[in-house]
Amino acid sequence: MRTSSGAGELLVELQRDNGVPLHQQLESAIRTRIRAGLLRAETVMPSTRALAQDLGLSRGVVVEAYQQLVAEGYLISRAGGYTQVADIAVIEPTAAAKPDAGPPRIDFRYSRPDVSQFPRAAWLRSVRRVLNETPYRSLAYIDGRGTLELRTALSDYLNRVRGTAARPENMLICNGFAQGSRLLLQVLAAAGRRRLAVEDPSDNDLREVAEAAGLEVVGVPVLDGGIDVTALERSGADVVLVTAAHQFPTGAVASAETRAALVAWGGLVIEDDYDAEYRYDREPIGALQGLAPDRVAYAGTASKTLAPGLRLGWLVLPSLLVEPMAQAKLMDDRGSPVFDQLAFADFVARGEFDRHLRRMRPRYRELRDTLVERLAARLPELEPVGVSAGLHVMALLPPDVSEEALQEAARARGVGVYGLKPYWVGGDGPAGLVFGYGSLSRKDVVEGIELLAEAVAAVRGA
Ligand SMILES: Cc1ncc(COP(=O)(O)O)c(C=O)c1O
Repeated sequence: MRTSSGAGELLVELQRDNGVPLHQQLESAIRTRIRAGLLRAETVMPSTRALAQDLGLSRGVVVEAYQQLVAEGYLISRAGGYTQVADIAVIEPTAAAKPDAGPPRIDFRYSRPDVSQFPRAAWLRSVRRVLNETPYRSLAYIDGRGTLELRTALSDYLNRVRGTAARPENMLICNGFAQGSRLLLQVLAAAGRRRLAVEDPSDNDLREVAEAAGLEVVGVPVLDGGIDVTALERSGADVVLVTAAHQFPTGAVASAETRAALVAWGGLVIEDDYDAEYRYDREPIGALQGLAPDRVAYAGTASKTLAPGLRLGWLVLPSLLVEPMAQAKLMDDRGSPVFDQLAFADFVARGEFDRHLRRMRPRYRELRDTLVERLAARLPELEPVGVSAGLHVMALLPPDVSEEALQEAARARGVGVYGLKPYWVGGDGPAGLVFGYGSLSRKDVVEGIELLAEAVAAVRGA
């Protein structure tokens, strides 16, 4: 493969008054870059004529430099009359480039849907359609809330499937929950909110984001029926973040009482509805946002349903937050990429999103069933909870098995399992594991639990 260095250009800074001949300066600049790996093997060099013109040199100077580098083996003069970088680059390994142990063979890491099932053909149809049909004016800078097409398609979808009370006007498109939640916490802190309550245990990334935004973070226990609202009331928090439909990581579902108490609570509720689309054997649970649109900021993401790499997320906001959030989004990145938004809008509006979810649900359900069945057969002490929805289950460990020791013993057998420790707000709570199963095959789940059973036995034997 030929790699072109560009349309005959190569940035070289020459010093015309330092006494070093120009051909030597040029040689040295090219040699240094080849040695550093910045001009890769097989890169096609600019022609001597083009480079001479570009650098304001006589062609003979460039020819001399190239000939010297060919003689040294850095460049190769090819029969077609062009010059290529030779394959001798000496690249000093950097710390980041050092090989690590690599991912485990069977990885129960959470937060991975099966991206091999991404609906490429349907997505391609949507991309084609929007590339053909989008008027040029839509490619200008956009509204801070995102394209109207996507806000419309998603508000229709969410109102139908999640029971929200969304309108295109109070929706905002963001780069996943990561960006949406960060902007929201920053806007809330700037508006005078002081203390964020999070579920204990819960996702730990967000706590750091909240603290960086200037909010104090307090943990509130999660009970079988969701967050303990009595403890929330005592916490002095003025904002709470909940995963009500399927608590992360316990899988608890907020009961009707918890949901009513949450929306009656005086503060603002942020509802992270990250995996509600995957529900297997329980009644559907509508979004809190539909109960109190002016008290709840709802957040959704395509990261579990389609692919995390899409970086597509959305918020349904209380009216008062719409304008400051649109401003914050514009300040942050001037809006999410328009073609991605329009393709997703088309995909949702044509029912492809529903179709994809209908196809994926039975696959994930089968994996969930296999995992639960294998745990019961091989590790009955690890009783999974929160199994009725989502792409993960959680299991507490027996008191004589530590998370660290088990993780290490499993890893030695090629299996990645992940402890609960990082999710406890104070870093302290019962030991357990969170099993993500979304990206595994049935065979991997079976083998993974077999190897985990061996690892538990080894930890006990030790
Ligand atoms: C609890 C929770 N919420 C939301 C998300 C999605 O984040 P994002 O949309 O930034 O990919 C994740 C991803 O793992 C998660 O674990």
